[in-house]
Amino acid sequence: MPFRRGVKQDGKVNGGMPADFKTTDHGLNKLKVATRGGVVFASFDHDIESLEDFLGPVILGYFDRLFDGRELRILGYNRQRIPGNWKLMQENIKDPYHPGLLHTWFVTFGLWRADNKSELKMDARHRHAAMISTRGQSGKADQVTQVSSFKESMELNDPRFLDIVPEPWWGGPTAVMMTLFPSVILQQQVNSVSTRHIQPDGHGSFDFVWTHFGFADDTEEMTQRRLRQANLFGPAGFVSADDGEVIEFSQQGFEQKPFHRTLAELGGRTVEDTDHMVTETLIRGMYQYWREVMEAEA
Ligand SMILES: [Fe+2]
Repeated sequence: MPFRRGVKQDGKVNGGMPADFKTTDHGLNKLKVATRGGVVFASFDHDIESLEDFLGPVILGYFDRLFDGRELRILGYNRQRIPGNWKLMQENIKDPYHPGLLHTWFVTFGLWRADNKSELKMDARHRHAAMISTRGQSGKADQVTQVSSFKESMELNDPRFLDIVPEPWWGGPTAVMMTLFPSVILQQQVNSVSTRHIQPDGHGSFDFVWTHFGFADDTEEMTQRRLRQANLFGPAGFVSADDGEVIEFSQQGFEQKPFHRTLAELGGRTVEDTDHMVTETLIRGMYQYWREVMEAEA
């Protein structure tokens, strides 16, 4: 604080703040902070429940699978502005059937199949979710996918993008995508792990901030593998570039016909955990919670 005690001039003090002024009465906003497994969360709401209660036991279990206390090592950041409503990104990671329809890269190189063993799980209030899938043993996509292979003969110049090495901590699933309401996504797609933070910029746009990480006890080879696989994700990722573009298209669709409504009835009209991917149950769950919160605030 400049000139807090005033300025000494010609033997007297001029100006300054009143003698009883305390900086501690005018501090920065204090946040309620929680840390777990090396991850730091903060909320402006001091009455919010504990992080553990907020996540609930099921989601917490998947959180701890990824952040099990190992020391984390930041590998890099990406930041992009996506011209769409922030909730569209949560929907994206709660929609388990679009990868086979949208992401030709996943399909072409066999990273996604409609018959992957999969589960969708939520917390009791349906605000968070985990999409858990286990890749089959077969390599390239065959006729299981609804999208014919983009180009059968397409090959990677550098096959190391698919140099996938199972890790003991996976404990079965090869990919777990978590959405934490309202603004956090935790990604484990084979050896690529990241956090993604949604930072809204008004209702029609948001910044999407990626933090790619690894673990302090990774070998140099594993670090390089994680970095190579990170090329699938981020603003220009072989896979994630599709999501950013489609969210922009969706927003344009909403804006040109605001009187239209979205239908999310795939897999029924109710909200429940499932053991398959052909459902919008997680999206219905989020909007059920969203309405609950917004009505309480109204
Ligand atoms: Fe996607």
